[in-house]
Amino acid sequence: MMKDRIYNFAAGPSMLPDQVLEEISEELFNYHSSGMSVMEMSHRSKGYLNIFNETKDTLRRVMNIPEEYEILFMHGGATGQFAAVALNLLDNGEADYIVTGNFAKKAAKEAEKYGTVNIAYDGKDNNYSHIPEESELALSKDARYVHLCANNTIYGTEWNYFPDTHGVPLIADMSSDILSRNIDVSKFALIYAGAQKNMGIAGLAAVIIRKDLISKCNPMTPQILSYEEMVKNDSMLNTPSTFSIYVLGKVVKWIEEIGGIAEIEKRNKTKAKLIYDYLDSQDFYKPHAEKASRSMMNVTFTTPSPELDELFAAKALEEGMSNLKGHRLVKGIRASIYNAMPYEGVEKLVEFMDRFAKENG
Ligand SMILES: Cc1ncc(COP(=O)(O)O)c(C=O)c1O
Repeated sequence: MMKDRIYNFAAGPSMLPDQVLEEISEELFNYHSSGMSVMEMSHRSKGYLNIFNETKDTLRRVMNIPEEYEILFMHGGATGQFAAVALNLLDNGEADYIVTGNFAKKAAKEAEKYGTVNIAYDGKDNNYSHIPEESELALSKDARYVHLCANNTIYGTEWNYFPDTHGVPLIADMSSDILSRNIDVSKFALIYAGAQKNMGIAGLAAVIIRKDLISKCNPMTPQILSYEEMVKNDSMLNTPSTFSIYVLGKVVKWIEEIGGIAEIEKRNKTKAKLIYDYLDSQDFYKPHAEKASRSMMNVTFTTPSPELDELFAAKALEEGMSNLKGHRLVKGIRASIYNAMPYEGVEKLVEFMDRFAKENG
């Protein structure tokens, strides 16, 4: 890592790869001899359109997105998509929402404004420590779509399979696991993600939508959230988040250069194994997620008391590891170890955890 950078375990916005930051800083004042920064470029200029198209093409290659899917860059982060999905596709009909955490619940609440929401599963009784088996889902046959959240950032759980929805379009919020592992895009009708964890910086949402859905979108959807309008205008209905798209382009190029999603997934598995193996080897810390539902991206656990949780986060910060305090809904500790977190950061955290347990156990 670059000198003076710390290991930032934040859930998002979160770490970016050093290489990405270095390239951005080199190009900041004068992008490719244009005499201006990317932030100052017209989104219609040839220079910027090259960045835009290359970002889309690289994302398509890296995620192996089939031609039957459009890639959109939209405003309003993932929360904008909670509304966009329902406004475009619910249209006073019914949809199934699988509630495995706080963001899945927020998506369902937003959709309730625009139609009938069936809660196909709600993990509140296990405090969202569990990802349901297919047999636990009450899917309804008239649903226009099924919505799930692939990785639950707050609770630290992640789907390790995706349910068969028997032809009903499957929609996934992948804000906190996109680009972290191989995903078969063809299983989904629509995937969306806020960019600020594994894709770049905040505000931008990437949307991958199967083309046949576009003609089914409700024409009354405000144009800024309309998939149909966005496709028609190649995400340039208005001025897109030009700099965020440029950063996303750098992130996917970095992934491609280091060996693609296969390499990233291997690295993520190694990092997650290091910390979970340690958690399983001791009894000072209690993991929140049940074993079969564990997230590779967000590792959640508690120490024996809220005071020790506080002390843990404070002491870790003194040693160059920031943002380890858990979300207020789960409390305890949360270590977000997205793609850009180096193995050494996780190694350092586990070494610290062990020392802290010995000193405070
Ligand atoms: C899984 C998930 N969905 C949605 C969101 C909301 O994203 P945004 O802040 O971009 O609206 C987050 C943010 O942390 C998230 O982790």
